Amino acid sequence: MRDAGVDEVAVETFAHYYRLLEHGETGMIPEASIEPVDMPALADVQVADEDGVAALRQTAVIKLNGGLGTSMGMDRAKSLLCVRKGLSFLDVIARQVLHLRQQYDATLPLLLMNSFRTSADTLAALARYTDLPVEGLPLEFLQNKEPKLLVKDLSPASWPKDPEQEWCPPGHGDLYTALRGSGLLDRLLEQGYRYVFVANSDNLGAVPDPKVAGWFATSGAPFAIEAVRRTPSDRKGGHFARRRSDGRIILRETAQTLPADVEALRDLSRHRYCSTNNLWFDLRAMKEALDVRGGILGLPLIRNVKNVDPADKKSPEVVQIETAMGAAIEIFEGSALIEVGRDRFVPVKTTNDLMVLRSDVYDLADGFVLDQTVEEVPFIELDDQYYKVVADFDRRFPEGIPSLRKASSLTVAGDWTFGKGVQVIGKVELQAAGAQRVAPDSVLSSSAE
Ligand code: UTP
Repeated sequence: MRDAGVDEVAVETFAHYYRLLEHGETGMIPEASIEPVDMPALADVQVADEDGVAALRQTAVIKLNGGLGTSMGMDRAKSLLCVRKGLSFLDVIARQVLHLRQQYDATLPLLLMNSFRTSADTLAALARYTDLPVEGLPLEFLQNKEPKLLVKDLSPASWPKDPEQEWCPPGHGDLYTALRGSGLLDRLLEQGYRYVFVANSDNLGAVPDPKVAGWFATSGAPFAIEAVRRTPSDRKGGHFARRRSDGRIILRETAQTLPADVEALRDLSRHRYCSTNNLWFDLRAMKEALDVRGGILGLPLIRNVKNVDPADKKSPEVVQIETAMGAAIEIFEGSALIEVGRDRFVPVKTTNDLMVLRSDVYDLADGFVLDQTVEEVPFIELDDQYYKVVADFDRRFPEGIPSLRKASSLTVAGDWTFGKGVQVIGKVELQAAGAQRVAPDSVLSSSAE
């Protein structure tokens, strides 16, 4: 099971989770064992400007970039996609950081956590930003890789057609193992950094903001996550809670919820907050927590079942052992939560999200910060058959995304291709049997069919 590029602690971490899997670990969190958790809101906390700037000057930024965007039919980093004006997610991230460095006279190193599948493309895309790397630090570090396991007997899957498919990254919970294993954790401390801000590269709202940095630093907490209020569309997802037995804050995912507790999970008035995956930690506290555990934090296991070749639904079913970065909140006594606005949480999980992000619902403001131009983001539901895969989606908007500023929702059923300058107003539903075109400069309003 050993591979030349894999570090010892990562192998032991994999073995730890493998044993849990073998013993049928389910990681269930019963409703009776938790209670709702409350938190302050960023908008209400006072942070002195000098505290914010001081914290930012001791902060390093990590963007998670190891995923492959499989939900959008991709097999490379989602962050390579163009967001607007010819800029990709990576371009915007790089420019946000360069701008903040200048504005606050901060070093603010940017580190990408890549996987073996996303590294080369990402570094090539960032090569044009020659002043992005910070002396003594790399621009990336690599996640570990682990074998996919056959569901039937948990043996390593073999796929001679494309042996790369036999391996997968172990989820973003691998961040801590990879940071320590690569020596970066120590290097950051040696260079005088104290805090790390981590976020998904697909969330352009996750700017290393001095106010949040200042709040975290002055809170003295070892670890914190930015939360948002759950909305009806977050109902099926996970939420924060407090564990009754020891008072620790935890994250409960859908997969960790018993069937009898699903109603409680969906109750937005009971469990009011979910995670943005924007997270802050104190490097010293993280080093200590890892060192005392021999490098294995012991995050809850996520058993992810997929096909060994994701593009071939007939290929054998495999288990991918994963952990989630945010679950580390339960490792630290004194972990904190802060409620932030939706402006800090603009994830792109589907082409529906990508459509909104590319539209005039957002603007790139000063400092390459996303600026929402409307009160409410419209609800978009495109037909999976024709729009789920990015290449199919792009083909149907050859001249750009319609204006969505006045739209409340757009539902597209069937195969529609949009001309230039289309405007959507109110609630619009399109239905078609065969392929259809929306003529250039059309105005689609509530009554359009
Ligand atoms: P997601 O699971 O939401 O995105 O991960 P993904 O993996 O890119 O897309 P799908 O699920 O295959 O469609 C959230 C963030 O975590 C990173 C992703 O790059 C994304 O920024 N990630 C995920 C990692 O860095 N490593 C992993 O092993 C998994």
